[in-house]
Amino acid sequence: MAHRDRFYVTTPIYYVTAKPHLGSLYSTLIADVAARWQKLQGKKTFFLTGTDEHGQKIAQAAEAAGKDPKTFVDHFVPAYKTVWDEYEIAYDYFVRTTDHNHVLAVQKWIRKLREQGDIYKSVYTGWYCTSDEAFVTVEENEIHTGSPLCPSCGRETSYISEESYFFKLSAYQDRLLEYYKSHPHFITPKERLNEVISFVQSGLKDLSISRTTVKWGIPFPDDEKHVVYVWADALNNYITAIGWGQGEQREEQFNQWWPADLQVMGKDIIRFHAVYWPAFLMASGLPLPKTLLVHGWIKVGDQKMSKSLGNVVDPQVLYQKYGADPVRYYLMRHLAVTQDSPFHIEDLEKAIGSELANDLGNLLNRVIVLAHKYQLTEVGPHEVLAEQALALRNDCWDMVEEYGQHMNEYMMHIALGRLWRYINQVNSYFHANEPWKLAKTDPKLFEQVISSTCHSLHTIALLLWPVMPKKMEELLSALSVQWQLAPQHNIVEQLKTSRWNHTFILQPSTKSLFEKPEIIVKEEPAEETVNSPENGKEAIVAGTPNNNMNYIAIDDFTKVELIVGTVVECVTVDKSDKLYRLQIDFGDKGTRQILSGVRQSFSQDELIGKQGIFVFNLKPRAMVGFESNGMMLFAKDENGRAIMATVGHHVPNGTKIT
Ligand code: ME8
Ligand code: MG
Repeated sequence: MAHRDRFYVTTPIYYVTAKPHLGSLYSTLIADVAARWQKLQGKKTFFLTGTDEHGQKIAQAAEAAGKDPKTFVDHFVPAYKTVWDEYEIAYDYFVRTTDHNHVLAVQKWIRKLREQGDIYKSVYTGWYCTSDEAFVTVEENEIHTGSPLCPSCGRETSYISEESYFFKLSAYQDRLLEYYKSHPHFITPKERLNEVISFVQSGLKDLSISRTTVKWGIPFPDDEKHVVYVWADALNNYITAIGWGQGEQREEQFNQWWPADLQVMGKDIIRFHAVYWPAFLMASGLPLPKTLLVHGWIKVGDQKMSKSLGNVVDPQVLYQKYGADPVRYYLMRHLAVTQDSPFHIEDLEKAIGSELANDLGNLLNRVIVLAHKYQLTEVGPHEVLAEQALALRNDCWDMVEEYGQHMNEYMMHIALGRLWRYINQVNSYFHANEPWKLAKTDPKLFEQVISSTCHSLHTIALLLWPVMPKKMEELLSALSVQWQLAPQHNIVEQLKTSRWNHTFILQPSTKSLFEKPEIIVKEEPAEETVNSPENGKEAIVAGTPNNNMNYIAIDDFTKVELIVGTVVECVTVDKSDKLYRLQIDFGDKGTRQILSGVRQSFSQDELIGKQGIFVFNLKPRAMVGFESNGMMLFAKDENGRAIMATVGHHVPNGTKIT
């Protein structure tokens, strides 16, 4: 059974062939937020992360870099620790599979399984994907010419035929299926569980767990021709790092933490964690982890962001530009753990500007500035609450309850959406009460509005602390809230029934919590490029369309001014083979210059004289040295050719589209 007052969470251990990227940060962040959330509820937590340092993939990368493998991996490990520190990742232990303790414990594990008959020697003949470090099963008829592609990552595999030790995976098929059936929450989300079940139902073969042609690995005990297969080495980190197989003293520590409550990973490595790992544990006589949280991928266009594809976003660039907490918030709120998500820098900036700076930061600011203006520093509780404040408090209790449920299911994006609904309610409450008027007419009610808003902010800050620890500590200091994490002290439970009887001392010198990012002016947006840090540009990936339905309110739409105009001039632009420089006649509204990247779709003559639809109030931006003052609208046909958006009949230039 899991220990009720404890929580053990792990991340995958990353291959150290490069610095961490946004995907590695994402998994690690989920684990950090989960651990902090449990701490807030008074649990003792242990958070493990680390690096996977053996195997053919690392050996090849080291060779390509002209280094011996150990020097090569040593070089990257500090980069992981630095990024985790920058992002406030509060891990308890950083495991490396080259650690001596780990190596000895894995050897002990192999011996144990070999002695009990779960490991035997035979010959492996088949295909191997080095990038995934995976043995690949291929049907005869799938092999045409050359080597088959890895069904998981699509790269070429290589043929190997060598003596190998095998783990009797096939013997665990029924027990695994039984386990999935009786533990429906073992794998989250459910879709992933179903995938695993059908994979196991299709039949399990014994798993090769040693290599003779790879030298960079843990020596196989009692047979030095072999090294341990990298996944049999790596998966065991989850138990060796907390003391398994290392004598009595560490055994005690192990028993305190195992089984893990949460193991976080991306869907690329689900088979290793949901099939091989549970079978290894069953063979070892150990209980299985409570939950495997399998998240989707951060994508760039149609592809997974990955080290080997080189399309990565560097978390350090984001950190320097936006700071840790805004990026943490964005990743937790705007990437759904249940699905793949694209990364767009514009979305990150929008979230910082509108959700963090406007909805939350400004709320705090307004309260502090207004209270200060009327010399209100000590904000005491109110015995009798007006109806609106009572309603707000009820909403607050409901929100804490629902937020908690979602967080306990690791659905951080849903939890944050729910919390933001409450933040909007608090903003509405504050504005509807017009406290700047009450200050003059009804000082007591004025104080109550300030007090209720402070109580709301207090709750919000504590609940958001796991996601934005530093910023929320600042918010709590602005209200002079003393608070402390302590075992058995469940802060969330207290918030569910808080009577709102705090006294807040407001700190008038409080700085704005969040800076609104300046909107980036991109040169030549028509040519989307992926920049890598190596070429000296910012490692920010240009946008691709978002497939998620993202509803806007009608007043969002009315912010966009769509105006009819006629193209009166169209010239090419020297520095670009995509752009035209257009002059558009907007009737009464004058003539404007607009740059448009449609040169491949239209000749100049095809555009001149045509009436089109334009976004009229788009912020002017510089493109290849010209100012573009608006945007022309197009659809694309099946060949990618732009088709002009226009009106059914000729209308006067300057007519508004509503
Ligand atoms: O697989 N989006 O290491 P790895 C989201 N060493 N998460 C991503 C991601 C993306 N685009 N790219 C990577 C290994 N990740 C093994 C693990 S564990 C015993 C051994 C995250 O460096 C995600 O968690 O290839 C994914 O599963 C992991 O990094 C893979 O990291
Ligand atoms: Mg990988």
